[in-house]
Amino acid sequence: MIDRFPVLASTLAGLVLIAGTPALARAADDAESLYQEHCVRCHGSEVYTREARKISAFDGLERQVQRCELSLGLQWFDENISDVATYLNQNFYHFPR
Ligand code: HEC
Repeated sequence: MIDRFPVLASTLAGLVLIAGTPALARAADDAESLYQEHCVRCHGSEVYTREARKISAFDGLERQVQRCELSLGLQWFDENISDVATYLNQNFYHFPR
């Protein structure tokens, strides 16, 4: 058993590597499709880039995503909220993380 451990460990590490990349890509895809499906009805991206935008840091962005999401009654997971906030941050806000 002991001498098989390194093989097992590297197999597991390989699986984590293989599984990890698509999971990240999937989160980005999901965020974009959730966003496109639910979030473009009332405002376009002009509210994210306007001079007087309300958000000044990433945690504020997450809170605002959640406020809009809750007001729509969507019941997203925390993960969806932070993925969509990350999506908006990468495309519009560019806050340091
Ligand atoms: C029912 C209409 C409506 C929908 C749909 C909506 N929002 Fe909003 N959103 C608003 C309003 C109203 C504001 C506030 C605008 C203001 O304060 O001038 C706002 C503001 C925002 C802001 C802040 C903009 C700023 O000033 O920087 C973000 C971020 C945002 N929404 C994200 C989302 C996301 C993500 C979704 C999808 C879950 C969404 N919104 C869907 C109505 C909506």
